[in-house]
Amino acid sequence: MKELPEWYYDELIQIGTDYGSEEEVLNYDRKMATIRNIAEEAKNMCELIDIQPDDEILEIGCGTGEFSIELSKHCKLVTALDISQMMLDFAEKKAKSKQRDNVKFIKAGFLTFDPEETKYDAVVTQLVLHHLPDFWKLIALKNIHSMLKRGGKFFLKDVVFSSEIPDFDVYFLQIFQNIPPESGDEIVSEMKLHIKEEYSTFDWVMKGLIEQAGFRIEEFDHQNGFMATYLCIKE
Ligand SMILES: C[S@@+](CC[C@H](N)C(=O)[O-])C[C@H]1O[C@@H](n2cnc3c(N)ncnc32)[C@H](O)[C@@H]1O
Repeated sequence: MKELPEWYYDELIQIGTDYGSEEEVLNYDRKMATIRNIAEEAKNMCELIDIQPDDEILEIGCGTGEFSIELSKHCKLVTALDISQMMLDFAEKKAKSKQRDNVKFIKAGFLTFDPEETKYDAVVTQLVLHHLPDFWKLIALKNIHSMLKRGGKFFLKDVVFSSEIPDFDVYFLQIFQNIPPESGDEIVSEMKLHIKEEYSTFDWVMKGLIEQAGFRIEEFDHQNGFMATYLCIKE
């Protein structure tokens, strides 16, 4: 991990949901397998980054490892970062149980990872960048830019709010009401915590940050005005 000046944001402190707790890690893995179509998401990610057998890929905020493990089936090496040692231990065990030996797990994040001389073919991160306030998002995006090869791809998926929403009180109420009851009350509580304590930003801010960091946005998708996916290119 990089040594950073004392005025740097401390990304190792969990904000919002505490992914440092063992209970939350188990809970997260179970929940994601029920509410998400992981196989479909992973397929979409692989297609967007046009993954190749010789690629070296970096995932930032790997969580319980599902995506790093999936990517590792299609490329040479995946380096999977997370700031939660609990998440990393869980993900590493999962990778071993699936005989994936080309995933390297490292405790570090957007600001603290030291890639040394490595330049990656692609960097992917999903549902993680909102853990940083906007100023630090730009520093993180510049770090990612510097770790990529020229022409390298950056896949970003995160909760980003649409600036076209006229009334956020009405909008959030509708989101909570539209969560299917089978997903459970927990999801609603987590969404409330996300809005209250985490740092999801607006689409126009995110677009500006990505471009300021030196990327060109090649593809953009925004589901329900909050789940944004960007495919960005380092030119
Ligand atoms: C919502 S989970 C997403 C996990 C996974 N990417 C997925 O799509 O399921 C957020 C993860 O990001 C990690 N995290 C939080 N802040 C981070 C940072 N600054 N750098 C790297 N990982 C971070 C948390 O520990 C947690 O594992």
